Amino acid sequence: MTQKNLNIAVIHGPNLNLLGKREPEIYGSTNLTQINNDLSKLQSTHKVSLSFFQSNHEGALVDHIQTLENYDGVVINPAAYTHTSVAILDALLAMKLPFVEVHLSDPKSREDFRHKSFYSEKAIAVVSGLGAKSYETGLEKLIDHLRGAQ
Ligand code: DQA
Repeated sequence: MTQKNLNIAVIHGPNLNLLGKREPEIYGSTNLTQINNDLSKLQSTHKVSLSFFQSNHEGALVDHIQTLENYDGVVINPAAYTHTSVAILDALLAMKLPFVEVHLSDPKSREDFRHKSFYSEKAIAVVSGLGAKSYETGLEKLIDHLRGAQ
């Protein structure tokens, strides 16, 4: 059976534009461009088309998600909005987008205020603590889910 090409949006929340320089002992030394480039290399292998978006603003993330009507799913690191934003979660639910939540660090083993995620309950999967690898693993989990659903 021929596989359908999947459209997947990769979304990065606030301060992830600083990756590489930002607390490298927690988030690693890989910058956002490298993470996106490494994910891009997986497109042909998995027969997916990826788009990338980063914003430091909650409303901009909501506006972006609302444009994704032709997408099959989302890999999202909501960053600090993980612990605060119902609006971004509601946008994903409104658009009926299956999503995987990813984190470079493991928020559950950090400060108490990072233990609550508004997303985990609704996510297909949560991948945390693998550094930049969390994105790749998250993408693969989303693809497996979407292919399984076809
Ligand atoms: C993060 C974890 C969050 O708690 C934090 O606010 C971030 C990054 C991660 O990828 O480990 O900005 O989502």
